[in-house]
Amino acid sequence: MEFSIKNRNPEQRRSGCLVLGVFEARAPSPAAWQAAEETRRFLAGVLASGDMDGKAGSTLMLRGIPALDSERLLLVGLGKEKEFRDKAYCAAIRAAVKALRDSGATDATLLLTRIPVKQRSAAWRIRQAAAVACETLYRFDRFKSKKDDERPLASLGFAVDDRTGEAAAAQALAQGLAIGEGVALARTLGNLPGNVCTPAYLAEAAQQIAEEHELDSQILEQADMEALGMHSLLSVAKGSRQPPKLAVVHYRGGKAGDKPVVLVGKGITFDTGGISLKPGEGMDEMKFDMCGAASVLGTLKAAALMRLPVNLTVLAPCVENMPGGAASKPGDIVTSLSGQTVEILNTDAEGRLILCDALTYAERFSPAAVIDVATLTGACVIALGHVATGLFANDDALAEELLAAGGAAFDRAWRMPLWDDYQEQLKSNFADLANIGGRPAGSVTAACFLSRFAGKFAWAHLDIAGTAWKSGADKGATGRPVPLLTHFLLARAGKLR
Ligand code: BES
Ligand code: MN
Ligand code: ZN
Repeated sequence: MEFSIKNRNPEQRRSGCLVLGVFEARAPSPAAWQAAEETRRFLAGVLASGDMDGKAGSTLMLRGIPALDSERLLLVGLGKEKEFRDKAYCAAIRAAVKALRDSGATDATLLLTRIPVKQRSAAWRIRQAAAVACETLYRFDRFKSKKDDERPLASLGFAVDDRTGEAAAAQALAQGLAIGEGVALARTLGNLPGNVCTPAYLAEAAQQIAEEHELDSQILEQADMEALGMHSLLSVAKGSRQPPKLAVVHYRGGKAGDKPVVLVGKGITFDTGGISLKPGEGMDEMKFDMCGAASVLGTLKAAALMRLPVNLTVLAPCVENMPGGAASKPGDIVTSLSGQTVEILNTDAEGRLILCDALTYAERFSPAAVIDVATLTGACVIALGHVATGLFANDDALAEELLAAGGAAFDRAWRMPLWDDYQEQLKSNFADLANIGGRPAGSVTAACFLSRFAGKFAWAHLDIAGTAWKSGADKGATGRPVPLLTHFLLARAGKLR
């Protein structure tokens, strides 16, 4: 797909399809419409007919429009003008791109990107339109014998008004497309089945990204981790035939002396629960248990595509959690890389066991901040559902930055407490701490566990158990929180307009 910026009255130029928004009072969004009198009259007739009432998400494709050079006119319902905010804007872009994809048009110009959105800049509208368009056009059919037919749509233009600088619009477009690519990568890695996306495959994928963008990378093998003393991580791999890997990739876009942001992603390529075996129903979805790793790789890719002036290190511990004759058992005690001993009371609380060693490993990079991303707890889904990612942090400034990034990206997080009071639930009779804290506040005690390994840096933890994938008819990875993380980096780089 080709994307471009269209300025200077694109409605007066020929295109395969012009896309115009209509508010609920059957009013074309005036900011986005400068057409000939004859065209306006025709449109007024269409709206009066009742075929398009402006309801959010509705679309109407028209052809043969008087005094319009473009072949088609697509009307997109925007809902009530008073309620038109970021959510409605993204929904309108999504509806438009869906209708265009299913039409015969080969190219289209969206006038929607000129409609003001409360508290959002023109650059935001372009960036978001590009990211949402990519998300809408994404397909995953690698394992389908019969692929969907190629659709003719090959080129999308986003209209800007003349007050928006051309350079600013082009930059916002490039940012949106980079986010789109990062999200697509995270979704594809997430959607791959566990028999394909093994720890070796995921580590290889990390190396491939590194090669494409000429980044330094390293894969720590099982023997390397044994030599280091990562026995907590290694304990999770014991039941599997698949050897564990720890992928390390450095993107150095910042100054040589600048401390890196370290992103750590949970890469459990399949989570059976181990000896504390999960129930069978819906277990296939545990192939998504590596979506944290996928999202940090997607973010790395987006940062590299934008050549952001930041230093970024990505750690992806990749492990398969299986039962077996050699698997860890409830009650086993392991010594983590930090030296702290952990009593494994439940082998299904494996995410924290691999993350804790990766967090300790992050210390060696003298990080400016460490952010881990993990499909960590079912309890987080109970707390926040599928809307917000759970955010935990030992540093208020970092938490605020991430919340703001989530708001700007429309990929929101919500802060949860990390008070000491919860730490008591992790007491073990036999080791320094237990790997579970009981049913109450399960996502908080999981974060508290991680906090014990994050004392030496500013740290945040994103629990994406509810947001990384969708179940049901639309089952599939979402690519979240790549948009949040990318906006965080964009803001740190001073590149958000
Ligand atoms: N990967 C799961 C968390 C999960 C479960 C994410 C369901 C999304 C949907 C994690 O490894 C896990 O099994 N956590 C346990 C922890 C418990 C044993 C303390 C959980 O949430 O039940
Ligand atoms: Mn588990
Ligand atoms: Zn898991």
